[in-house]
Amino acid sequence: MKTRMTELLGVRYPIIQGGLQGLGRADLAAAVSDAGGLGLITAGCFDTCAELEAEILHARTLTDKPVGVNISIGTRRTMSDFLDCICDLGVGIIFTSGHNPESFVDRIKRFGMKWVHVVPAVRFAHKAQDLGADAVVVVGFEAGGHPGMDDVALSVLVRKASVELSIPVIAAGGISDGRSMIAALAWGAEGVQLGTRFVLTRESALHPIMKECLQQATEHDTIMIERSLRKSRRVLRTTQAEAVIALERDGATFEQLKHIIGGEAYLE
Ligand SMILES: Cc1cc2nc3c(=O)[nH]c(=O)nc-3n(C[C@H](O)[C@H](O)[C@H](O)COP(=O)(O)O)c2cc1C
Repeated sequence: MKTRMTELLGVRYPIIQGGLQGLGRADLAAAVSDAGGLGLITAGCFDTCAELEAEILHARTLTDKPVGVNISIGTRRTMSDFLDCICDLGVGIIFTSGHNPESFVDRIKRFGMKWVHVVPAVRFAHKAQDLGADAVVVVGFEAGGHPGMDDVALSVLVRKASVELSIPVIAAGGISDGRSMIAALAWGAEGVQLGTRFVLTRESALHPIMKECLQQATEHDTIMIERSLRKSRRVLRTTQAEAVIALERDGATFEQLKHIIGGEAYLE
């Protein structure tokens, strides 16, 4: 299948495995790329440039197809150093997300990388296009992870973005199979980015008990947390998630929530 996205990224199918904090490692990314989609190694999984570099080199032993890197801007100071590392290694495709990518653009362009920025709103998609992004991923309210603060469904966002933008739009949020991919393409997307579905693959490092939990979950079993911190996150409805909501209702600060939502606790 050919779209402007497949042409841009040099892949066979318009399917991307999105950034996955803690799980976006070489085995998964290389398997997706090898199967004809685009896998992304998630820089946020690593503490040091050396670790990220080793993972990228490992992916190159698993496939000769392109594997990209996802950098979630603003989550950690090291992300800027990670960008230098990616440039030095000649990574050809970068997906940025999280915050304003402006300070990264010069380096991305200088090293001739294909650049896709992930956004939860059409206004940010315009900004990315103006900054020179080659494509955008538009993330709808349905998405796992951070779907932004506006609570707008993917069908509305993708339709609007694809009408207004000149660069290709990639859809993310609630896409799980060929039929939902075709729906997104019909709305005007030129590719899809999946997160949750790839978490459930054999190559994903998620604990088997968690995979089982996700498979048993229904459409009512996710919940939005961290809205009071202006960082809405869609997660599985667990007792921990319910505890976060209760604390947020009582006006808890990040410091007061850290024992549940901080990096260490998240991994545990
Ligand atoms: C467990 C998990 C971790 C994620 N981590 C990141 C991340 O580090 N960077 C990023 O840009 N997106 C991240 N995302 C978002 C995904 O890349 C993707 O956009 C989203 O999952 C799409 O929605 P879906 O889960 O309904 O397919 C994450 C999603 C999940 C479920």
